Amino acid sequence: LNYNVSRERRYILEVLFNGLRRLEYRGYDSSGIALDADRTAPSSSASPSDAPYTGAPPLVFREEGKIENLVRSVYSEVDEQDVNLDAAFSVHAGIAHTRWATHGVPAPRNSHPQSSGASDEFLVVHNGIITNYEVLKETLIRHGFTFESDTDTEVIPKLAKFVFDKSHDEEGDVTFSQVVMEVMRQLEGAYALIFKSPHYPNELIACKRGSTLILGVNELSGQQNGKPFHDVKTLTTNGKPKELFFSSDLCAIVEHTKNYLALEDNEIVHIKDGSVSILKFDPHKEKPAFVQRALSVLEMEVEQIKKGSYDHFMQKEIHEQPHSLTTTMRGRLKDGGVLLGGLKEHLKTIRRCRRVVFIGCGTSYNAALAARPFVEELTGIPVTMEVASDLLDRQGPIYREDTAVFVSQSGETADTLLALDYALENGALCVGITNTVGSTLSRKTHCGVHINAGCEIGVASTKAYTSQIVAMAMMALAIGSDQISTQARRNAIISGLTSLPSCVSGVLKLDAEMKELASSLIDSESLLVFGRGYNYATALEGALKVKEVALMHSEGMLAGEMKHGPLALVDENLPIIVIATRDACFSKQQSVIQQLLSRKGRLVVMCSKGDASAVCPNGSCRVIEVPGVADCLQPVINIIPLQLLAYHLTVLRGFDVDQPRNLAKSVTTQ
Ligand code: G6P
Repeated sequence: LNYNVSRERRYILEVLFNGLRRLEYRGYDSSGIALDADRTAPSSSASPSDAPYTGAPPLVFREEGKIENLVRSVYSEVDEQDVNLDAAFSVHAGIAHTRWATHGVPAPRNSHPQSSGASDEFLVVHNGIITNYEVLKETLIRHGFTFESDTDTEVIPKLAKFVFDKSHDEEGDVTFSQVVMEVMRQLEGAYALIFKSPHYPNELIACKRGSTLILGVNELSGQQNGKPFHDVKTLTTNGKPKELFFSSDLCAIVEHTKNYLALEDNEIVHIKDGSVSILKFDPHKEKPAFVQRALSVLEMEVEQIKKGSYDHFMQKEIHEQPHSLTTTMRGRLKDGGVLLGGLKEHLKTIRRCRRVVFIGCGTSYNAALAARPFVEELTGIPVTMEVASDLLDRQGPIYREDTAVFVSQSGETADTLLALDYALENGALCVGITNTVGSTLSRKTHCGVHINAGCEIGVASTKAYTSQIVAMAMMALAIGSDQISTQARRNAIISGLTSLPSCVSGVLKLDAEMKELASSLIDSESLLVFGRGYNYATALEGALKVKEVALMHSEGMLAGEMKHGPLALVDENLPIIVIATRDACFSKQQSVIQQLLSRKGRLVVMCSKGDASAVCPNGSCRVIEVPGVADCLQPVINIIPLQLLAYHLTVLRGFDVDQPRNLAKSVTTQ
């Protein structure tokens, strides 16, 4: 890149671009950036107000598509802009955003930062959803504002400008945080917001309600009781250069700092000339209170968010499952039992509950479905399953006597979080199973288990799925640990858990075989996967993987239901995978295979090692042999060949593995 950009400016740009690249897995429809400019303010403002204009308008770029489009556009446009990008900054406040479209198509005008108007007096990036934006928009239009985007977000910078102009006319000076607080008073919905304004040069404001927002600090200002300590005074006084980061996700800051703070709802962080103050917003109080917060230290390695020698994150994450499962179990299998610190205090209550309700979406729902049989078996408590959105649609009954278990990799899925609010309102004990420390789910639930699978970047969840099942197996063992009659069974499962990572290493050796199978399926239009019992969830999850990344129609089906409809689809062309590993349902699956074969079904059968002739006596189907483990843990093994199949199918069909069309890693809107 030969553009006339100073080292310093390039550093600033790259920090922002890299942050976006780390977040690209969460949204990749479009992106944008706002940078401090070193040009003078325009002589006339196109805004409806004549309030004094104190700073230079920022440089704003917005692009459709992947982050690299934005990068190219910024570097190539700098020469054409009437600005000098060679100048040095003592303080620089930049914001950037990557979007997954909810309101409005992916297009530059719908990308963030959204703006207050032609002079970009207020710029806002937003994660979440504003539910009352239509009312606010109408009001602002009545006051002379014109809207350019289809987003809900655009009302926010416009509202900020409206508040700023009004306060200015009535009271003279108004601080940036006063403006933002007034905006917060008007907003309904969920949001994490960052504001930038040339009226407040060298300042940024971030605030949140509902959506996650992290503050990262690149150096510590002091210690208290051996812990890093931040307060409004100490952070500002050490005088050294520092970098402060806001992000909706720790992945974007881990390469810069491990010291972070997860902001709480209604907190406002004001950064001014590199100093930080945190205010607690209370809509009923005139003045906000300053708050002091301790920084946490992030336990995440930069390697986790890099592809290393792999071509894709999904591939890396599939292959690191022996390790991720080890970290899920680390320190938790003790003296022949299970120790889960996050549940300890609540085990008695859970044992007395009337039922366990599992709630999740997508892959997390499937993981809960895989856990259901052993949770029922080991605890004796009835388990019901709820897709989060469906529970909300039906306003299904949740009782005080229920234990509601919320399963979510990200801990930020809007449907799951709304279902959590609903269960909390109904008085249930709420347990979280999540991969994301500091997530909304982990903060709002009464107790829970972190699955510790490490950062998952590929949109299609793989390692989180297997770690979720293992975390729930440990949960079931802990809840059932007071039952003498199941002691031998628990011991067998614990020993199965211990051998699981090496078993997973064994099944990963099927990689080449799965690639070969993928090449034979590449032109198929559809794929069916039949499973039952412990492996009904495997059928659903295997089909979901193929659907979401390989963009091939695929359905997971309960084998017991085969003769009640799906059998009509069977012919010699439609590929069907039947999961028939050893467990109590084995002989039933054998007869399913026979029924399919007698209708000339094109079968691929997954069976336990050595069972090829038992499942396919005359060699008329293709067989995948997998290593055996305790029956209830077999879903952890069985999903892996299907993950590999989906991966190779996607590559062979030429689709985007890590960012499949139209999907987002964490769906933070309803
Ligand atoms: C999205 C993702 C899925 C994921 C689901 C639930 O739909 O594309 O891969 O399984 O959300 O996400 P969660 O973070 O709650 O597990």
